[in-house]
Amino acid sequence: MTEPHAALDNLLTENRTFPPSEEFAAQANATAELYDTANADREAFWAEQAERLSWDTKWNQVLDWSNAPFAKWFVGGKLNVAYNCVDRHVESGHGDQVAIHWEGEPGDSRAITYADLQREVSKAANALTELGVGAEDRVAIYMPMVPEAIFSMLACARLGALHSVVFGGFSAEALRTRIEDSRAKLVITTDGQYRRGTPAPLKPAVDEAVSKAGSVEHVLVVKRTDSDVEWTEGRDVWWHDVVDRQSDQHTPEAFDSEHPLFILYTSGTTGKPKGILHTSGGFLTQTSYTHHNVFDLKPDTDVYWCTADIGWVTGHSYIVYGPLSNRVTQVVYEGTPNTPHEGRHWEIVQKYGVTIYYTAPTLIRTFMKWGADIPAKHDLSSLRVLGSVGEPINPEAWIWYRENVGGGRTPIVDTWWQTETGAIMISPLPGATSAKPGSAQRPLPGVSAKVVDDQGNEVGKGGGGYLVLDEPWPSMLRGIWGDEERYRDTYWSRFSEQGFYFAGDGAKYDADGDIWLLGRVDDVMNVSGHRISTTEVESALVSHPTVAEAAVVGASDATTGQGIVAFVILRGGVAEGSDGAEAIKALRDHVAKEIGPIAKPRQIMVVPELPKTRSGKIMRRLLRDVAENRQVGDVTTLADSSVMDLISSGLKSGA
Ligand code: WTA
Repeated sequence: MTEPHAALDNLLTENRTFPPSEEFAAQANATAELYDTANADREAFWAEQAERLSWDTKWNQVLDWSNAPFAKWFVGGKLNVAYNCVDRHVESGHGDQVAIHWEGEPGDSRAITYADLQREVSKAANALTELGVGAEDRVAIYMPMVPEAIFSMLACARLGALHSVVFGGFSAEALRTRIEDSRAKLVITTDGQYRRGTPAPLKPAVDEAVSKAGSVEHVLVVKRTDSDVEWTEGRDVWWHDVVDRQSDQHTPEAFDSEHPLFILYTSGTTGKPKGILHTSGGFLTQTSYTHHNVFDLKPDTDVYWCTADIGWVTGHSYIVYGPLSNRVTQVVYEGTPNTPHEGRHWEIVQKYGVTIYYTAPTLIRTFMKWGADIPAKHDLSSLRVLGSVGEPINPEAWIWYRENVGGGRTPIVDTWWQTETGAIMISPLPGATSAKPGSAQRPLPGVSAKVVDDQGNEVGKGGGGYLVLDEPWPSMLRGIWGDEERYRDTYWSRFSEQGFYFAGDGAKYDADGDIWLLGRVDDVMNVSGHRISTTEVESALVSHPTVAEAAVVGASDATTGQGIVAFVILRGGVAEGSDGAEAIKALRDHVAKEIGPIAKPRQIMVVPELPKTRSGKIMRRLLRDVAENRQVGDVTTLADSSVMDLISSGLKSGA
């Protein structure tokens, strides 16, 4: 275990605060009393939140924690998640309300009302049934941000099938391992996807993955870019052939509150991604509750936009389930933020009158680099709440965001959570909290979190240590798909005596007791808000024939939070007269092929040796010193203390 990231310590010097305006506070969904209500009786509080949903059968027990760490929430209750996100809004007379303002990258757009959504999801559910998908089957979704991706997720939920969404930027190999682990029966994809203005193929990756993964019976393909695709008769079917001809009526069935809803793979400390499992009632309760209170959503007047991709948990919880359960009107944008120009997001905010905007610090820092004159050219006066997620936001970026996007007036909610937590856990409440740039501040009402030392004792004000969650919460993961042991080991063994969930993040309390997140304390990197494990990249590197050994570290990076830096020992060294540039390029491409372009190392350094302890463990701390151009730290525990000199003097590096 390494120390919380030293470079982030400067966060603690920030002491400006930004209380909400009186006007905002007066109209806010959540007031400070919510904390008192939740503290008075946590379970009663969550039961009250569950009433936000429409249940077919009411639960008879709020929480069953008798088989900890496997929780059951709203025991005995039954509901249909898709019904809650779609049909009930039509039934309450809001069929004509736009659910999704979809904006394609090339400039095409589509307004989808709740009545449209109900028809589309019903047709998709009927088609999935025809293709043999039933309750508890797994469906892999490998798609760009097209409306059909959301229809597909909701169709699965409607049928009680589990979706496993795989980010469209992942490689065929990454897709294959995820399909194999979940034993998916159906893959839903598109022919291609737009990337920075040009169509890029997507289906070939599915063909490659599926040819090696035995479980898949059908591939359902949405035509998006009109690219040529190879076709396997009998296996491949077009969406427009199979879905369009279905009836637009479908009766949803009620499933148990603990019925599985989806699997989402995320990086852990080993090379193998973990299939995080979420279930129905608790997940929907907490995503709905947090979306309502943290973003202050007013369904009749707000236009909400979360810029995440559905390939990540933020897209699941804050594009699909939380917002739609709250009858949101939202923008969904297909493309990259600088296509065709760097003002694309602001143009979209202006076009739809976006009121709530939720994005990642990496993108905010990119906007800063592009310049404040770009948002200034657009009318952003509709914005009233801004959100941040995925990594610590540095105060400078926070202030820039508030000034240049929020017109110096909007509250900003810095929301801490994880794929595993399912929903936001630590965040200001926009109408009740005096915001502090860089701090996620307090656990939400109903949530309990602490910063503890190595022994699991809570640290005092001003103290730092590890973030733990010391009470179960409704949207908590219910395990790792097919690996109960790994679930216990990863999250519950570190503080097993106390029964704390170990989040893997370092954190501190400031003098007021507010929480500041300091980055990962395990071997997981956070690159542009994406979790990538060092071991995963190392395995990809050593699978290349030229590499004998590899060590990977996350080095701090001004834009992406962390950048991937790899140290490799090449078999037979670098060829005479070569600077190694070619070998390095081949390795970067190889990692992109094995995992996806997001995992390409920023820098690869060819070294003669790696620093190891006597027991053979690589000392990443020392490599991080090199990667961040610092004086190399204490080398006394190295098996051979001269190794660091050898590394520093003989570096051949390339970017
Ligand atoms: C980090 C994304 C600081 C953290 C929702 C966590 C954050 C990991 C914040 C989860 C934040 C997320 N401040 N750090 N507001 N939000 N993180 O699973 O290290 O992709 O453990 O979920 O991102 O990443 P994941």
